[in-house]
Formats: sequence, C-alpha cells, structure tokens
Amino acid sequence: MTSVAQAQPNIALIKYWGKRDHVQNLPAVSSLSVTLQSLSTRMSVEFRQSGGPDTLQINNAEAPAMLRRVSHCLDLVAGADRDNADVVSVSNFPIGAGLASSASAFAALVVAAEHELGGSRSQLELARLAGASSGSAARSLFGGIVELTAGDEQIAVETVCDSVDWPLDVIVAITAEGPKPLGSGEAMIRSEATSPFYSSWLENQDDDLCVAREAVNDRNFAQLGAVAEHNCLKMHSVMWSSSPPIVYWNSATLSCMETIRSLQTDGVPVFFTIDAGPQVKAICLPEAVATVRAALQKTAGVINTMHSSLGPGARPSEAR
Ligand code: PMV
Repeated sequence: MTSVAQAQPNIALIKYWGKRDHVQNLPAVSSLSVTLQSLSTRMSVEFRQSGGPDTLQINNAEAPAMLRRVSHCLDLVAGADRDNADVVSVSNFPIGAGLASSASAFAALVVAAEHELGGSRSQLELARLAGASSGSAARSLFGGIVELTAGDEQIAVETVCDSVDWPLDVIVAITAEGPKPLGSGEAMIRSEATSPFYSSWLENQDDDLCVAREAVNDRNFAQLGAVAEHNCLKMHSVMWSSSPPIVYWNSATLSCMETIRSLQTDGVPVFFTIDAGPQVKAICLPEAVATVRAALQKTAGVINTMHSSLGPGARPSEAR
C-alpha cells in the first residue's frame, strides 16, 4: 500500500530562530505563523519488505542530499527497525528557496508515514515528530494562525485562530530562484555562537508573541503588522550580525519592502515578513490582494508573485 499526505508551508509572523536543544531540535523561542493554502507538498510513503535502502524522489528527481533527514524522520515515526521506504515528494512551488518547503515536506511526511503504519497519533504528537526534523514543520500540522510554544522538554502547537475567523491573504514576491546559500539549521548555530544580539533576541521574544497574540484576539491588523515587521527585522539583525554574516536579502528584497511601506502610507492594509531567503511575503486583508499583488509584480527585480489564502493543517490525501 502507498499512503499519501498533503501539507502546506507556513510563514512565521513571530519568528523561530535558534535552538534550545540541537539533538532533539527544540526551538529556543516560541513562534506564531500562518499556514498557507495554495502552495502545497504531496508526499507518498510506502514501506516495503524487500531489501535495499530508503529511496527519495523530489519533483521527479532522485534527491540523495535530503535522504538522510527523511530517513531519520521516518525512524522517529516508525522506529529504527522499520522496513525500508520509498518516498516521493511533489511540491507546486520552488523548494529550498526560503518558501518553507521543508515545513510542508516534513509535515506531510509524518502524516503519510503514520497513515501507512495505521497509527493513531494525535496532530500534536505528529507535530512534535515533524518538528524534530524541521522546527517550523511542527506548525504545518495545524491550519490558520498557529502558535508554537517552546518548552524545555517538548513543544506545544495549536491553532489560535481559524482562517474562517480571520481571513488573511499572503502574496509572495519571488526575487530569486535557486537554492539559498546557507541552510537555516547551520545558520542558526552560527547566530547562536557569534551574534552579539542573540541573547537579547531570545529575551524579548515572549513580549513580541504576547503583542501578536493580543492582536490576533482583537483582529487588530495594524498591531499584528507592526510587531511582525519588527520581529522579522530583529531576526535578520541577528543574522546580519553573525560572523561571517548571514545575508539572505538581495536588492529586490529591499525594493519589495519599500513598495510595501509606500502601500502602507496610502492606507493599504499590508505588512511584510522575510525568512531565510530573499523572497518577501506580504500579508494583507482580502480587499487589498489585487492592489498588493499588482504593486509587487511591478517592483524592480521581482520575478513572479504567488497568492495564497490561509489553509488547513497537514492531512492524509487520496493517492492519484
Ligand atoms: O524549520 P527551519 O529549520 O527551516 O527554520 C525556519 C526558520 C525561519 O523560516 C527563518 C523562521 C520561521 O519561524 O519559520
């Protein structure tokens, strides 16, 4: 039998940057994110009795570089004495380019593997397993606006606001294609070891999260936007002040930020966030989608734009 699952990437508004436990991959800070709808990863897993190693195909090509992480994730779900597996992943958006493809991939992987095993783990248990492979993947098990609470022993994850209760939209401006120069795991280790801002980043995170949570509860878009932009720029300050510096932006990243600032001046409800890559994510209210997308599309250096509403968490899916 083959089991298939689908998951969407999530975009953090209050960022995860830094690890409390490198072996268990526990985040050093809590975070808040939105799960997308139209970008998605479909993952199929089949355990087989016959010999040979695990195999992994990503978007119709063998992917040996990712195989170790995928095998480790399957060990966590099925135990190290499991049968070997054939894994096939297909995403409808660029992978490894700062669009949270590892979040949707590992969220879909744990759901597909659990389904294949006939297990009955809860979404939270699956989130913890996904998070052990990619910290942000834990949030893609849940839909809408999602909060991840960091803990000494384990994380907690839950939806704090459904997409129906507060519909938000995300426009992604693609400013460069191709893989990012440095993976987020390695980059976080460098920031922890070398950035003089790292400890204050950790200290102030809960305050930002509190402000963001209150903004979500009150559906206060301006408050959410202000704290999310501030938190994003703080995370990038930690990256920039690492040694050697970690700079994921390009000139189009800055141009997109300028475009969004000018839309804000005109009263358009939109704010930006940027992850470990040069793409800019503009979060806006539904009535602003067309304006924001048109403005980003014509910003210098933007290759393409994508639009998504908020979507559900990872779930089993029909095989095709
Ligand atoms: O889950 P990882 O290891 O890919 O780290 C994700 C880090 C950021 O995307 C930059 C921030 C976040 O909270 O998603």
